[in-house]
This record gives sequence, structure tokens and C-alpha cells, in this order.
Amino acid sequence: MKEVLLILSAYLIGSIPTAIWVSRSFFGIDIRDYGSGNAGATNTFRVLGSRWGCFVMAVDVLKGVVATSLYILVPYYLHDENDRTNFMVGLGLAAVVGHIFPIWAEFRGGKGVATLFGMIIAIQPLAAVCCVAVFLLVLYLTRFVSLSSILASVAFAVFILYIFDEKETLYRGFAIAVALLVVLTHQKNITRLLRGSENKIPILKYRDR
Ligand code: G3P
Repeated sequence: MKEVLLILSAYLIGSIPTAIWVSRSFFGIDIRDYGSGNAGATNTFRVLGSRWGCFVMAVDVLKGVVATSLYILVPYYLHDENDRTNFMVGLGLAAVVGHIFPIWAEFRGGKGVATLFGMIIAIQPLAAVCCVAVFLLVLYLTRFVSLSSILASVAFAVFILYIFDEKETLYRGFAIAVALLVVLTHQKNITRLLRGSENKIPILKYRDR
């Protein structure tokens, strides 16, 4: 019963629609009506500037870390590593679902990347560092945040399955699910990438001029 309540709490934490509340409270707009229409850090960066973009990213990552760390409220999980990892995966995924389908914002949220990243930080920090490295490399080479997010999530699955050689079945499934989920939430970005109309990160765009 306690586990169910914690999963529900993780969903509610993930549901905090940071980008939407920031855009409504401080700018009187709904971020979903501007830019890519996504309620995430990248679009906040694009529409409201780097300071608010960084703020939204920090809070969205923190949501994943906090929600996934709720396992500490069940003492049993402090002693059994496999069960703990499995429960953390459940908590983290609940937060990511909340981020994508937030109860506090008409179930239209972001693409889940920042909250997924927070979840990975809490579960396997070294894998998170590897994902950041891939993300930054792709971003440096292409300047597409969306492509960087997609390739970092695919890299996460490859790291877990082949480099870290994770044995826990649920965790292996989770790694594959992360890649699939990010591809699914980025379908519009993939279409734009294929059409050559995807946005590049603004800060580097200015440098092009
Ligand atoms: O995490 C979202 C990012 O990968 C793409 O955001 O606003 O360009 O669709 P956006």
C-alpha cells in the first residue's frame, strides 16, 4: 500500500508543469502556444530566454531525482539492491509519465527528457554522466537539442545493455523503454529533422549571423 502511495506521489511530483507555470506566472502566456509548443526546458530557453530555460531544466531534472529517491521512505528497499532498483524504476517512470501527462496542466506536458535524466542520475549516476557526454557531443556537432536527446537516450540503452552489462531484466527493459519513449515523444521533431526544418539552439544560431 505504501508503495502505491509513493508511486502516486512520484506521478504528482512529475506532474509539476514547471515551464507552464513559469510562462503563465511571469509572462502571462502559455509556453505551449509558442515555439515548438513543448512545455519543456528547451522551448522555455527558446521563448523566454536562457535564465528561465536553465531554471526549468533544473526543476524538471530535480523532479526526477526527488521522485526516484522516494524509495528511501520504505526501509526494506535500503537492503535489497535488485528490489530497490526495480522500485526506483517504477517511481522514476511514474514521474516521467507525470511530466508528459501532468494532472496540473490538462495532461499536456513536456517530452520527459529532463525528468528521465533526473531519474537516471538517482539510479545510476555514471550512466547519467555518459549520457550527458553523448548529448553534449551531438549538440556540439549538430546544434539540435532534439537529436541530442534522442541519441543520448539510445546511448543510455546501449550503455546499460552492453557496456555496464546490467543483468536485472526489469532494468534492461527500462533502458530500452527509455529510448523508445524519447523517440515516441520526439515524433514531431523527427519529422522536422527529416524535412530540414528543425530548430537549432538559439544561442548558437546567433553566432551564425
Ligand atoms: O527535451 C525536449 C527537446 O529534446 C526538444 O524540445 O522544444 O525543440 O521540441 P523542442
